[in-house]
Amino acid sequence: MKTIKQHAIWGHRGTFILAATGSAVGLGNIWKFPYIAGENGGGAFVLMYLVFILLIGVPVMMAEVTLGRHGRANPIDAVSKIARQSGASPMWNLIGWSGVIAGFLILSFYSVVAGWSLEYFGAAARGHFVGLDGETAGAAFNALLANPWRLFGWQSAFIAMTVLVVAFGVTRGLETAVRLLMPLLFVLLLVLLVYAVTAGDFAAGWRFMFGFDPAGLSWGAASLALGHAFFTLSLAMGAIMAYGSYMPGKASVGKMVFAVAALDTLVALIAGLAIFPIVFATPGLSPAEGPGLMFISLPVAFGSMQAGVFFGAAFFALVALAAWSSTISLLEPGVAYVAERFNIQRWTANVLIAGSAWLLGIGSVLSFNVWQDMSLLLGMNVFNFLDFFTQRVMLPLGGLLMALFVGWVVRRELLHHEVRPASETLFSAWLWLLKYLCPAALLVILLAGLWDQFS
Ligand code: PFF
Repeated sequence: MKTIKQHAIWGHRGTFILAATGSAVGLGNIWKFPYIAGENGGGAFVLMYLVFILLIGVPVMMAEVTLGRHGRANPIDAVSKIARQSGASPMWNLIGWSGVIAGFLILSFYSVVAGWSLEYFGAAARGHFVGLDGETAGAAFNALLANPWRLFGWQSAFIAMTVLVVAFGVTRGLETAVRLLMPLLFVLLLVLLVYAVTAGDFAAGWRFMFGFDPAGLSWGAASLALGHAFFTLSLAMGAIMAYGSYMPGKASVGKMVFAVAALDTLVALIAGLAIFPIVFATPGLSPAEGPGLMFISLPVAFGSMQAGVFFGAAFFALVALAAWSSTISLLEPGVAYVAERFNIQRWTANVLIAGSAWLLGIGSVLSFNVWQDMSLLLGMNVFNFLDFFTQRVMLPLGGLLMALFVGWVVRRELLHHEVRPASETLFSAWLWLLKYLCPAALLVILLAGLWDQFS
């Protein structure tokens, strides 16, 4: 194996929390969580999601950070090194490969959707939502999707924004970006929450999110909640492992991971509490709107509310910032691998990987219009296939392998030394969850996802 150039370390103690939260908080929290909670009855779904974050998400995230920090390299080399130290087969580095490839594939289509937030930011700020009705909003959204050039333009802009940050490297690029973006993101979110409390129907929004209706508990909803808990924490996609590899040795893995999971969950809940009151305050809008909740219902709602131009623009700025700090983390693992492995400049690696994701992303752009009905694999177009394959197959499979690797294969002393647990009971509980509960749960979502697709 080639020697690896010295690996970077975050310059500030808290950067891991900001960067990993930046990765975790994204379209998943602000767009997807509210709409899947909305479609699955609210409270009961939210409760299942919280349990899964705690029992499955946190232990797996700790495993991923531990691998990164101990390996002190990009995800592929980090896992290889730990497998060697544990006397295990080098094949385990499949975990690293799967993470880096999944991150790359997700970047290709995530940046397409992220680009829509830029279009909507512009439309909101120019007052285009004022007086909008549901039909016009739906038609405008469809017109955007039907226009490949426009989608391509926004996708390209988003990739360019991502490249710009990653090119400056770990401390000057990523660290500077998250230290500016994350506080801004939290301020915007709180401003929107205050707006929802004062201008929206907050009581209805609260009841919807936290009112417990057992009818919402179903196997389908449980597997969706678990899959989402994994996606929203950015697990098994190289991002968290890469960020963990830049974490200073003294920081406590458990505490850091707990903080990230708590912040990510808080943002999803606040996003729901900011969105639903606004939706409920507008006659004719339903919380179970599906994917159109953000791009159709919200513009209508902002368009009919006081100061909606300002707050609508603030909302879409928030979405764009959240997505931006996520795409950065999707690009970083691949760049770190190529730069370290082939000993080339980060700039070159960056342009190479981001350029390929950009080209692949064109397939997703066309999936909303020209290639919509094309069946690539399993009867799906490019976007649907990549979305299915990464989230339903690679992510649970990568997570499953990671839980098994850390739970059963990696030497216990190595883990103990790296994690430096606050108590032996917590350490044993963590390992127990990784050995049994996490693999079982991940196997269930893997099978449920495949079943959904093929039945
Ligand atoms: N966690 C992000 C979200 O909820 O939108 C998405 C994501 C980012 C997934 C980075 C994976 C990743 F590596």
